[in-house]
Amino acid sequence: MIILKSSKEIMLMKAAGLITARALEAAGKAVRPGVTTWELDKIAHDEIIRLGAIPSCLGYDGFPNSTCISVNNKVIHGIPSRTERLKEGDIVSIDLCACIGGFHGDSARTFPCGEISDDAKRLLADTEAALWEGISKATAGNKIGDIGSAVQQYVETRGYSVVREFTGHGVGASMHEEPSVPNYGRPGRGARLSPGMVIAIEPMVNMGTHEIEILEDEWTVVTADGKLSAHFEHTVAITENGPVILTALE
Ligand code: MF3
Ligand code: CO
Repeated sequence: MIILKSSKEIMLMKAAGLITARALEAAGKAVRPGVTTWELDKIAHDEIIRLGAIPSCLGYDGFPNSTCISVNNKVIHGIPSRTERLKEGDIVSIDLCACIGGFHGDSARTFPCGEISDDAKRLLADTEAALWEGISKATAGNKIGDIGSAVQQYVETRGYSVVREFTGHGVGASMHEEPSVPNYGRPGRGARLSPGMVIAIEPMVNMGTHEIEILEDEWTVVTADGKLSAHFEHTVAITENGPVILTALE
């Protein structure tokens, strides 16, 4: 069941989204060679608490930290580690959720660590642009498939692939609600978008094959071919006046 939100509820979700954005920004600013993914998680965690919210990922299905941090060939759900130290040229995906007033915000971004290769730069820019392609289709009357199709086309025409096994999702009083929002699909297919729907759109884009594997920790998703992967995500409300990004910085 898709749970629609009133405009008052969307206002509350904006508060959760803003804290999510600020925590993501704080952690992102700390990305540099030598820092551990554990330290980045701590920065985001502390910022979420300082702003009065709760880190939704901490303890979710037993997840041990407040952020997912996925370096290079890790796609999503990387577990922050005291021994994982970033080095120049890494790309670092940070994904986090904050909950306040009973609602969640969910956002992710892949940050460059120091100077990265031109190929990696292009991957980051193209994945972020694919997210915006998806957001541009998040208007009332469109279908879920319009979003996925726009993302997939943008990504594949540039020679990359989209992950199939994990998707975007509804966001609200739960971090994950219906509908599922795949990063692939066909225009005109799937559930109709209507005002009051709030969804996370989150392309996971691989440099090589779309195939993924899950590590023995049962969380970390990696590319099957070991090539780089990037992840950008925003929580977006569908309104009469078009998409509203709830996890924007202001
Ligand atoms: N924030 C992730 C998402 O984009 C979910 C993280 S799963 C968790 O949907 F267990 F780490 F919380
Ligand atoms: Co999400």
